[in-house]
Amino acid sequence: MNPIDRIFALFQEKGQGAYFGEPVTQTEHALQCAHLAEQSRAGSDQIAAALLHDIGHLLHGLPEDIAEQGIDGRHEEGGAAWLERYFPSAVVDAVRLHVAAKRYLCAVEPAYAAALSPASQRSLELQGGPMSTEEVRAFERKPNFRSAVAVRRWDDAAKVPGLAVPGLEHYRRHLQAVLIQREPA
Ligand SMILES: [Fe+2]
Repeated sequence: MNPIDRIFALFQEKGQGAYFGEPVTQTEHALQCAHLAEQSRAGSDQIAAALLHDIGHLLHGLPEDIAEQGIDGRHEEGGAAWLERYFPSAVVDAVRLHVAAKRYLCAVEPAYAAALSPASQRSLELQGGPMSTEEVRAFERKPNFRSAVAVRRWDDAAKVPGLAVPGLEHYRRHLQAVLIQREPA
């Protein structure tokens, strides 16, 4: 099966679970996030990252209340490691860094931290809390950190119950545009 079909199948099979204490499913959350990226006139790499940023949750199959159980599933690492097989670093870095981007924004924008949803504030503690000054500097040296910050802002906004947005197929051309085309073995 080609990687895009596998990804869509994963959403269809596992995306109906609630998105970690938020009033949307995993698939609704991903679709809203990608829609916000597209509305911001982002490129296909950022739209793909927005759609796929939480794919690690679907790959893990962890229970939806893990943050309440005090577990950090490290979904960004699992998702990035899987995506690396099919997508370039512009996509993968934004996925890998989207949790760090939350810690970054909490450090550089006090208003950002205050506006996080209760579930997101709970998971922030598990993720290490706001970054220190040294961590902020190190983060700003990472490739594609701005892209991760952009994905993070769409991520935070992509939690609107019942919002009508385009479906998975709408994003096939964006995924196709950035997919790494390998020579057939
Ligand atoms: Fe998310």
